[in-house]
Amino acid sequence: MRIDVVTIFPPLLAGALEHSIIKRARDQGIVDIHLHDLRDYTDDRHRTVDDYPYGGGPGMVMKPEPWFRAVESLRVQGNPGRAILLTPQGKRMNQPLVQRLATEDRLIILCGRYEGVDERVREHLADEEVSIGDYVLSGGEPAAAVLVDAVVRLQPRALGSSESTIEESFSENLLEYPQYTRPPEFRGWRVPDILLSGDHGAVDRWRRDQQIERTRTRRPDLLGPDQDVSETTS
Ligand SMILES: C[S@@+](CC[C@H](N)C(=O)[O-])C[C@H]1O[C@@H](n2cnc3c(N)ncnc32)[C@H](O)[C@@H]1O
Repeated sequence: MRIDVVTIFPPLLAGALEHSIIKRARDQGIVDIHLHDLRDYTDDRHRTVDDYPYGGGPGMVMKPEPWFRAVESLRVQGNPGRAILLTPQGKRMNQPLVQRLATEDRLIILCGRYEGVDERVREHLADEEVSIGDYVLSGGEPAAAVLVDAVVRLQPRALGSSESTIEESFSENLLEYPQYTRPPEFRGWRVPDILLSGDHGAVDRWRRDQQIERTRTRRPDLLGPDQDVSETTS
């Protein structure tokens, strides 16, 4: 998979994409990530990317021309990909959305700043708008880091054999069960006996029950009104 990110602050993102699972996936050629400075696609001496909003109002708006130039020139290099505009007004990111984007061959991620981008970018350049949650960030870069991380870890072979997305929260619309490691007792708080029992069948059943109970109490919305969770048992 190839991921291009267009931003006026490439260094803000670079560090987030150079460690751990993403670094390993890049090193192994599982994902090819490129950061692009939007200012490289301007045509004036000051490398201007913003201007005053028509109709007045606070702040500045990102001009359309550099965005179109950037995406169109990236698209000349092969697969047009899917252009994702990060905006608090977009579809709220969740695991099904990430799973869908993870199957794309190429994503071109657009990070806004200031008061956002000219509406024509949204209407005529972006294939899709994505929000990482109902709050407003100063820029799209943290949102891009979140999106890229979530998409990369779903790529085949991105996770090591000891890591798995299968039992993670949101797979099967359930939260994950509680996790413990050594020591078996810490400050008087004991690990549940069943996890120390060596009875794998009992551990599996306990974990499944915990998943269902956790999801019921913390995120009943994931279960939906009529969902019989026992039917999703593998
Ligand atoms: C200050 S925000 C602009 C918010 C815009 N004025 C509005 O009210 O919708 C600047 C940029 O940060 C990014 N951003 C802010 N919040 C975001 C979120 N929840 N999800 C994704 N991107 C976000 C977008 O790229 C946006 O263009």
